[in-house]
Amino acid sequence: MAVEIESFVRMIPKAELHLHLEGAIAAPTVVELARKHGVTLPIVREVSELYDFPNLGAFLKVYDLISQSVRDAADFHRITYEALGRSASCGARYVEFFFSPQAHLEFGVAYSTMLEGILAGMRDAERDHRILSRLIPAHNRELGPAKGEEFLDMVLADRPDEVIGIGLDYNELPYPPDPYAAMYARARAAGLRVTAHAGENGPAENVRTAIGSLGCRRIDHGYHVVDDPALMALCREDGIFFTCCPTTTLFTTPWRDLTASDHAIRRMGEFGLAITINTDDPGMFRTDLAAEYLHVAGMGFGRDELGEFALNGLRAAWLDDVTKSAVLADWSAQIALAAGP
Ligand code: ADE
Ligand code: ZN
Repeated sequence: MAVEIESFVRMIPKAELHLHLEGAIAAPTVVELARKHGVTLPIVREVSELYDFPNLGAFLKVYDLISQSVRDAADFHRITYEALGRSASCGARYVEFFFSPQAHLEFGVAYSTMLEGILAGMRDAERDHRILSRLIPAHNRELGPAKGEEFLDMVLADRPDEVIGIGLDYNELPYPPDPYAAMYARARAAGLRVTAHAGENGPAENVRTAIGSLGCRRIDHGYHVVDDPALMALCREDGIFFTCCPTTTLFTTPWRDLTASDHAIRRMGEFGLAITINTDDPGMFRTDLAAEYLHVAGMGFGRDELGEFALNGLRAAWLDDVTKSAVLADWSAQIALAAGP
């Protein structure tokens, strides 16, 4: 007999490719770290008021505030270990996650301190929760391409094996991707993998540019691709991956009803785009990976499709091809077993 959908979602092996370390911090940890470092959080009657975001800009203000409270290697270790533990408890086996170096450099935290704490947290999570992870420093696009080149210099100068690529995040509407073509070319030439937030609150054109000019084969969010049928067809043909985050759309996009028949993620999946399911900022959006899969189930996708989306997470991962095909065979068998006859 097939298991309930919630058990199915929890038990199938999953990868998570779109998770921001700072956005993953749970509220009690935010409060403790702010107290530890004397960072004043806005006075609110309830913590939930801090987590009410009318748009991406408002969200990013709170994201920066939260980031200020993460200062020493022990803090980075703690937030990494906690985030990966929560992901593992939802059945994630592999995670590629972003962090925002510039949000901490501004407060005098050295890049080496961030790496020291994060890498130790990753190792401990692998030991205790059997979850493998890799790291993606992301450039804040609002700082501009000159700062982007400095960011890349910093990343290349201190490059442990776990750092496998770079990302581009923050507000894409006033800061489109095209000025980052040269920086992305240099990153790719140095052997880093690349991804970029595009088509979240910005137009489909940003998705086109992220692919055509930045060389991305994987797009973070990408929802506005649905406004451009020709681009949609191109992405399907080229096997471009999209790291979709259902709950995020309620805060930063025009699609604010996850059950609507015209929700972008539903249309992307129905069209046959290679979508993956992720949490983005699970602490700030008060969600987890299992809840995000259930949201996608609520859009009308069945077990076979959810299983495919989970496998897409592995296909889109920046692991070597030999590892990937071995793990794919194993995950496919586990998903087929969980789906039942
Ligand atoms: N940083 C963290 N979450 C983000 C999002 N949804 N969009 C852009 N930048 C982000
Ligand atoms: Zn994101």
